[in-house]
Amino acid sequence: MRTHVVDHPLVTHKLTTLREESTDSPTFRALTDELVTLLAYEATRDVRVTTVEIQTPVSAATGVRLASPKPLVVPILRAGLGMLDGMMRLLPTAEVGFLGMVRNEETLEASTYAERLPDDLSGRQCYVLDPMLATGGTLAAAIRFLTDRGADHITAICLLAAPEGCERLAADLENIDVPVTIVTAAMDERLNEKGYIVPGLGDAGDRLYGVA
Ligand code: URA
Repeated sequence: MRTHVVDHPLVTHKLTTLREESTDSPTFRALTDELVTLLAYEATRDVRVTTVEIQTPVSAATGVRLASPKPLVVPILRAGLGMLDGMMRLLPTAEVGFLGMVRNEETLEASTYAERLPDDLSGRQCYVLDPMLATGGTLAAAIRFLTDRGADHITAICLLAAPEGCERLAADLENIDVPVTIVTAAMDERLNEKGYIVPGLGDAGDRLYGVA
């Protein structure tokens, strides 16, 4: 597993306001959208393309287009939904599959409560959207779900990550023979006793949608 922390002043600038307790939901949603687009630019560096020959008004030229099958974007419900538009802005022809995962607040383990994904993901590049890589349980379960269906390349885009979650994810995915990359705006200090990222930004779903 590879972890890529995007080091860019605009990313840190947007993240700073996102973190602030006083930032309201509309602003939080707008900033998430912008931040995800910046992260998506980095996360799609290895998106698969095929070479094509085109004609410019001046001459013949060689270019690339997204390869088939098209990438699959998978927001993890609920909070991953707030990242979807920002991602689709860069990959408008990608397909979208949904995965509903819930974390048991006592055991901190994740389970699947809904899914709308193709049965066969053979040869698919998947971009998983999950704002908070906290304990790593949700993301590990989601990645396993996708690789069990045949996905052969996974990139997860997270607003924030915690070192404990990254370690657990790397351990959980040790026997998965699929390249996994985590792209995040920051690697925070730690998790607290409730499994929240510190300093973090609180509950991403609540802050996006204004409901506790
Ligand atoms: N989920 C969140 O929304 N925030 C955290 O800090 C951890 C998990």
